[in-house]
Amino acid sequence: MSPGPAPPFLFPNPPLPTYHVAHRSSRESQTLPETDLTLDPAPAARSRGTGTRVALIGFGTVGRSVVKILCETQPRGLQLTHICNRNVERKKQPWVPTHVIWTSDIDSVLASDADIIIELIGGLSPAGQIVRRALESGKSVVTANKQLIARHGSDLLQLAASKGCQLEFGASVAGGVPVLPALRTGLCGDRLHGIAGILNGTCNYILSRIEGARIPFIEALEEAQARGYAEADASEDLDGGDARAKLAILALAGLRSRVTPESIRARTIRAIDAVDFEYAAELECTIRQISRARLDRETLYAEVGPSLVPVTSPFGRVQSNQNLVLTSGRYGGDMAFLGAGAGGDPTAVAVVSDLMFVAASLQVRATSQQNADSSPEPANFSTPQVSSDFETPWYLRFFVRDQPGIVARLAQIMSEHQLNIDSLLQQPGCDKSALPFVITLEPCRDSMLHPALEKMASLEFLTRPCLCLPILR
Ligand SMILES: NC(=O)c1ccc[n+]([C@@H]2O[C@H](COP(=O)([O-])OP(=O)(O)OC[C@H]3O[C@@H](n4cnc5c(N)ncnc54)[C@H](OP(=O)(O)O)[C@@H]3O)[C@@H](O)[C@H]2O)c1
Repeated sequence: MSPGPAPPFLFPNPPLPTYHVAHRSSRESQTLPETDLTLDPAPAARSRGTGTRVALIGFGTVGRSVVKILCETQPRGLQLTHICNRNVERKKQPWVPTHVIWTSDIDSVLASDADIIIELIGGLSPAGQIVRRALESGKSVVTANKQLIARHGSDLLQLAASKGCQLEFGASVAGGVPVLPALRTGLCGDRLHGIAGILNGTCNYILSRIEGARIPFIEALEEAQARGYAEADASEDLDGGDARAKLAILALAGLRSRVTPESIRARTIRAIDAVDFEYAAELECTIRQISRARLDRETLYAEVGPSLVPVTSPFGRVQSNQNLVLTSGRYGGDMAFLGAGAGGDPTAVAVVSDLMFVAASLQVRATSQQNADSSPEPANFSTPQVSSDFETPWYLRFFVRDQPGIVARLAQIMSEHQLNIDSLLQQPGCDKSALPFVITLEPCRDSMLHPALEKMASLEFLTRPCLCLPILR
C-alpha cells in the first residue's frame, strides 16, 4: 500500500533536489537517482569518458577484498585506475583487469587524475600525509583508518570541506557494521546524548571464551592468538587503546564532540578471572568490554573497560568477535547496530559503500545547477571536557589470605567514604590462601569510590589487587 503524499505540515513546499557536499551529515537533504552510479561521471571524468576514477593505496586484507568486490560487482560509473602498495610486484593478481596500474609510487598516484583515493595502509604515517595531500589537491578520500580519524578526523573533515571534497571513514569503527553512516545521516536529525558499544572483537572473543570454557585469561588470549583473532602484542586491544580510538570517532560522528582517544580512560581486561564470571552469574550478569560515552552539557562522560552487563541485555548476548553499538537520542530513543566488526570482506563492504556514496555525490554535485558553485558546509564540533566520573553500582572482587576481621575492615573503609554495601558474595569451599569474594556497592560516583580503593590497596591480607568493575544495568 502506498503511504500517500506527506501531510502538508511536514513538507509545505516539496524540496527540489539538493545536495550539500560537506559530508554525509547532509545526506538526508540530497535526492539521489535510484541507482547512484548510473549517473554521468564528474565533469573531469566525463571529458575522459571513463567514469569516476578510483585509486587504492594498501593492498592488504581489506584492500584486496575491496578490489575483489569492485571486480565482481562492477559498480557502474566507477573505474579502478591504480593499486598502490610497497614492493607491489608480489601483490599482483591475475584476476585484476589489465587496465589497472600496479605501482609502489604513492606520489604518482596522488598526482594522477584519480577522483577518489582509498587509503587502506593504516597507521598514522604515511597514511596521514597521503590523506592530507589527497584532500589538499581536491581528491575525495575513503579510509578505514581508526588511528588517523580518531586523532585528526575533525581537522581532516574541515580540510575536505574547505577543498570542496569528501572524506568518508565508515569502516573505521565496527568494521562492516554501518554505524558511522547511520550516525552521520540516519540519526543526524536527532540529538544523540549517549553511545555505548562492544567495539573490540578480540576482547569480546577472549571474555566469551573465559565465560564459556571457564579457562584462565592467559589461556583464552593464547587461543585467540593461535586463531588469528589477536596479534602477538595485543596490548592495544586488551588495554582498551583500540576501543577508545573508536569511541572517540563515535563521539565525533554522533555527539559532534571532538576529544582525543588519550583523554578517554581505558581499563584493561587482563585482570578478569574465570571466577568473576561465576560471581557475575550470581548477579544475573556477564562481563564484556564496554565503551560508553554520554554528553551532558559541557562534559563528555566516557570510558572503556570491562563491565558487568545483564546476561539478558543486548550486550550480554554479543558473542565471539561481533560488534554492537547502541545509541540514545532525545527524540528517536534507543537504536542498536550489530554485526561483523572486522574481517576483510565485511570491512570492504563498508569501504565500497562509502566509495559508491562519494562517487554518487561527486556526480550529483557536478550535474546539479543549484549546487555546482556552492561552498561546502563547514564541519561544526564542540570540544567538551572529558570525565570518567560515571555514577553506577560497582562490583569489587577481592582475593585474600583468610583471617578473622577481613569483612569488618573493608566495611570500615567503605563507611568512612560513605559507600553503601549492597551485597556480599562468597562461594564455599575455596582455597583459604587465596580466597575470592565479592562486594557489590550501591550507585556512587567513581570519584567517591577511588579514595576508598586506594586505602584498601595497602591491606596486608590482599593477595591480588582488588578488581573494580561498573555494573551497567
Ligand atoms: N582487517 C580488518 O578487519 C579491519 C577492520 C576495520 C578497519 N581496518 C582498517 O583498515 C586498514 C587496513 O587494514 P588491513 O587489515 O587491510 O591491513 P594490512 O592487511 O596490514 O594491509 C595494509 C597494506 O598496506 C601496505 N602498506 C603498509 N604501509 C605501506 C606504505 N608505507 N606504503 C605502501 N603500502 C603500505 C601493506 O603492505 P605489506 O604487505 O608490505 O605490509 C599491506 O598490503 C587499517 O586502517 C585498519 O585499521 C581493518
